[in-house]
Amino acid sequence: MFLKKAQVKNFIRNVAVYPIYGVLFCLLTSFSASSETATEVDLRVNKSRATVKTFAGKLVKELKQALEEGGPVKAIKVCNIEAPQIAGELSEQHKLRIGRTSLKIRNPNNEADAWEQAVLQQFEQRKLQGEDIATLEYFEETEKGFRYMKAIPTKGLCLACHGEALSESVKTTLTEYYPNDKATGFKTGDIRGAFTLIQKD
Ligand code: HEC
Repeated sequence: MFLKKAQVKNFIRNVAVYPIYGVLFCLLTSFSASSETATEVDLRVNKSRATVKTFAGKLVKELKQALEEGGPVKAIKVCNIEAPQIAGELSEQHKLRIGRTSLKIRNPNNEADAWEQAVLQQFEQRKLQGEDIATLEYFEETEKGFRYMKAIPTKGLCLACHGEALSESVKTTLTEYYPNDKATGFKTGDIRGAFTLIQKD
């Protein structure tokens, strides 16, 4: 009788209780695994956002300074040298690759690859659906690494060199520096392009 009771208890423990622990264990480990990945993604997104903010800040500062000193023609020459240089310095400093791209590029080195083109088109779609372009961003883990993009809105300040009506001197300078320039004809509120960033480690 006693033995039988013990056997029943053992049976209950083995068949009914342990599996519950098993299920709980699985749930807990899968929860912690997913929260760990979420944190990792959060870190990457935060780093991307911070680097983009620094990059954007430096570019606008250089642009405004050059415009004040010598107008758009001078600023084109400054942009031509400074923009790639700042991107290179930040990339090295933060151990990632940052740049700018667009569906209509000025500098051929900024040409979008297939992934970037798809994201830029996605941004245009989201804009059409009413999203605020100032906050449009997209990120994804890809085989090239963690990739992040953030849309760049066209503002009044941009129109002297990217707008519909350019001065003759701006046109001439742009043709000299960028014979295949496609980055004109934009209006305020258009998506001019996007910051693009890859993190590998
Ligand atoms: C003084 C002229 C000038 C003004 C004003 C200007 N840009 Fe540009 N922009 C340039 C030049 C020159 C380049 C090419 C830089 C290079 O060689 O990398 C460029 C490149 C870019 C690119 C990189 C993609 C591409 O087409 O090669 C983006 C994005 C961009 N500009 C956005 C803006 C935005 C947004 C503003 C307004 C806040 C702005 N620009 C104002 C001259 C200007």
